[in-house]
Amino acid sequence: MISPIFNDNFRKKFHELLTWRRDVRRFRTDPVDETILDDCLQMACQGPSVGNSQPWRFVRIQNSERRDKLTDYFKAENKKALSDFDGEEAALYARLKLSGLQEAPVQISVFADINTDIGKGLGSKTMPETKIYSVIAAIQILWLALRSHDIGLGWVSILPPEKMAGLLDVDTNWVFVGHLCIGHPEEQADTPELVKEGWQERLPMDRFLLQR
Ligand SMILES: Cc1cc2nc3c(=O)[nH]c(=O)nc-3n(C[C@H](O)[C@H](O)[C@H](O)COP(=O)(O)O)c2cc1C
Repeated sequence: MISPIFNDNFRKKFHELLTWRRDVRRFRTDPVDETILDDCLQMACQGPSVGNSQPWRFVRIQNSERRDKLTDYFKAENKKALSDFDGEEAALYARLKLSGLQEAPVQISVFADINTDIGKGLGSKTMPETKIYSVIAAIQILWLALRSHDIGLGWVSILPPEKMAGLLDVDTNWVFVGHLCIGHPEEQADTPELVKEGWQERLPMDRFLLQR
């Protein structure tokens, strides 16, 4: 295959894609096109992974009882998280919407198969956690690929990781990485919701770049 040329116009569009990617919590309930979802998952599986181990495992939740249980887990964990805050911060936290578990038409839990034979362990001996990092790299691709189709993704981590494999009847050695709510957003935004709500600003890049 001949390598494509990525021109200024592509770079501009790519930057726009990054600017308009959001963590989405407010979804419409209408379905997502299954072909698009499949294509985006295919792209996610093109992601980099340590030793080419491809440790991502996507578990789509189709069973409504499991989904209800997941919502219960979220509510319980969110209540605990709220108790870490006091006063105005607690009031603000309580107002935040932190998942689209009830509305988003597609629900996918993502795990890392940290014991996979695929890739024969190359690269992960000193840092076994690189298997988990590889899964996160795939999720990032999925996030952007979906956004390029105007489909939103919301990452939910306010869940009990130790209960997830049991709930979803998967290998208990898999590590739960995150739960993804996917669907059409109620609206598109170029500003993170936590910035809009006054929870946390985005900070300039130079704060995170160290020179030695
Ligand atoms: C690992 C990870 C876990 C997250 N967990 C949650 C979550 O449980 N609930 C939530 O509302 N947002 C969650 N988010 C989304 C972040 O709040 C969001 O990315 C951040 O506020 C910046 O907003 P943006 O993604 O729209 O730029 C998570 C994001 C990441 C990367």
